[in-house]
Amino acid sequence: MNDQAQSLREKLNRNRELGPSDRKTKVITVTSGKGGVGKSNFSLNFALGLQQKGQKVILIDMDLGFANIDILMGISSKKNIVNMIDNRTSIWDIIELGPEGLQFIAGGSGLSQVIDMDEHKLNYFFDQMALLNGYADTVILDTGAGVTKETLRYILSADDVVLVTTPEPTSITDAYAVMKMTSQSNPNAHFSIVVNRAVNRKEGRITGDRLLMVARQFLQVQLIMLGYVPDDAHVTKAVKKQEPFLLAYPNSRASEAIRSLVESYLSHKHTSAGEAGIKGFVIRLRHLWKK
Ligand SMILES: Nc1ncnc2c1ncn2[C@@H]1O[C@H](COP(=O)(O)OP(=O)(O)OP(=O)(O)O)[C@@H](O)[C@H]1O
Ligand SMILES: [Mg+2]
Repeated sequence: MNDQAQSLREKLNRNRELGPSDRKTKVITVTSGKGGVGKSNFSLNFALGLQQKGQKVILIDMDLGFANIDILMGISSKKNIVNMIDNRTSIWDIIELGPEGLQFIAGGSGLSQVIDMDEHKLNYFFDQMALLNGYADTVILDTGAGVTKETLRYILSADDVVLVTTPEPTSITDAYAVMKMTSQSNPNAHFSIVVNRAVNRKEGRITGDRLLMVARQFLQVQLIMLGYVPDDAHVTKAVKKQEPFLLAYPNSRASEAIRSLVESYLSHKHTSAGEAGIKGFVIRLRHLWKK
């Protein structure tokens, strides 16, 4: 075991002994209507950006079909939530370390079947998730392409939802569809919009405004325009190098944008209905799963 992993284990053990603190662990679900718009790259680099600001972050790859956060970091994860449930190990055993010590958890394929079919397994999963309460400041869930029933539950249960769209009309229409679907189940839903792959600031703003306008006109949902990330060749270059662009190309336009999105996120007052933090998240998830 290398030094970094060793020190993580020690920290995790200490946390286990201390039990949960009063710190609320906020849950952010990152989603989109259309697939391939940059959710995973955003989730990873945003997580690193928050961490650079002193936050303790855990990134969870909930893309169960095509999990790839680990590939974006050049790591192949050996443990995941499915193993944890099957082997009855604890959540502390499946946290892995990425660059800059970023803590992440892989979902593992077949998670939805595992938890949908067996109530004991489902409860075990939720109990383990709840243990993260007080351990981190923020848990980020990266979800897969297309809004499945399961993703909708993560959207409805989270403290904050980041909805990623590109300026393409198809992506905007699909983002709108996600908001509509969500607002049917939760009229108080709120979203933070990130426009990815904008040619420039103006296109980012126009795209955001378009969504704000239709949401205000036709839906009850509240929207915050969190910011935009430019279309930047450094993103693709970093993906090919299997390094997060924020670390591989810290001076690129995309990295600058991520840092300003982090500032924007931290400066917004976020209010969530019901109990905030991962405890509330798990309570809401349990409730939705029973429906
Ligand atoms: N800001 C950007 N500038 C240039 N290219 C980008 C940018 N963001 C994403 N891309 C490109 O889009 C590809 C897909 O990104 P990513 O895997 O993050 O999308 P995703 O929304 O997670 O996809 P999926 O829906 O399949 O999970 C990246 O591999 C990269 O080539
Ligand atoms: Mg993805």
